[in-house]
Amino acid sequence: MSGSALPHTPPLPRTRAAPIFAIASGKGGVGKTWLSTMLSIAFGRAGQRTLLVDCDLGLANIDVQLGVRPTADVHSVVRGFLELDSAVTPVMGGPGRNGGFDLIAGHSGSGALGAIKLEEVARIATGLTKLAPHYDRIILDLAAGIDPTVLRFARAADRLILVTTEEPTALTDAYAMVKLLHLQGAKIEPWVIVNMCESRSRGRRVFDQFAMACNEYLGVKPKFAGAICRDPKVPDSIRAQTPLPVRHPQSQAYEDVIRIVEALGAG
Ligand SMILES: Nc1ncnc2c1ncn2[C@@H]1O[C@H](COP(=O)(O)OP(=O)(O)O)[C@@H](O)[C@H]1O
Ligand SMILES: [Mg+2]
Repeated sequence: MSGSALPHTPPLPRTRAAPIFAIASGKGGVGKTWLSTMLSIAFGRAGQRTLLVDCDLGLANIDVQLGVRPTADVHSVVRGFLELDSAVTPVMGGPGRNGGFDLIAGHSGSGALGAIKLEEVARIATGLTKLAPHYDRIILDLAAGIDPTVLRFARAADRLILVTTEEPTALTDAYAMVKLLHLQGAKIEPWVIVNMCESRSRGRRVFDQFAMACNEYLGVKPKFAGAICRDPKVPDSIRAQTPLPVRHPQSQAYEDVIRIVEALGAG
């Protein structure tokens, strides 16, 4: 699978702007990037034209997991060389075909590495608002941590999707993100995904405890988007740089992703 070398024209405008989903966590390594990709594929298969934006800038992330070689990235936009729509790389044939989607990469090999500034996040957010009418879903894969740029992206989204594992460190970091956004005055109703669970029922129990803490101490009421079981087919597909449902048409983890897409509302 490879990205096109030609500039890609985004699909025609829709009547309604796509909702923006931010995939966040606090802690790194909980599966945000993998999940962002799976959600893009699953939304695509459900008939939703999806744009995935790698907001973990500077690091090679989505492109490496998928084996895609983007020719442009968000840095070119930030530096004023490109409009956001010219930085789009179609993946798996682009949106509307067989789970394909459009990608704006965080790093293309030619772009400058390095941290992004807060005002640059604002510029990207404005660009995304302009692109939103061309899609049904926009997914932002955020960096780990809770620095101001991550929080700014989270606040630019219509829906915050918090990814955690059962580990106390991941839960504490997810809680810290909710708390900081709450303290900033953001009206948040995060959707929570518990990834790499032993079982979905266990994931649900972990969510219940997390939700209780958010409600009791912050008055925030998170919603349960679903749990995803730990599945050895996930690292296997990443090693092969092939999306999970392409490499393994049957897998527990992708089945769990489909349930989540249904919970989030594919329509
Ligand atoms: N459901 C899962 N089952 C097994 N391994 C998983 C699962 N989800 C993620 N992983 C593993 O976790 C690693 C880190 O995922 P990644 O998406 O890069 O995390 P993040 O973006 O949050 O840092 C992946 O390389 C993958 O091997
Ligand atoms: Mg990541």
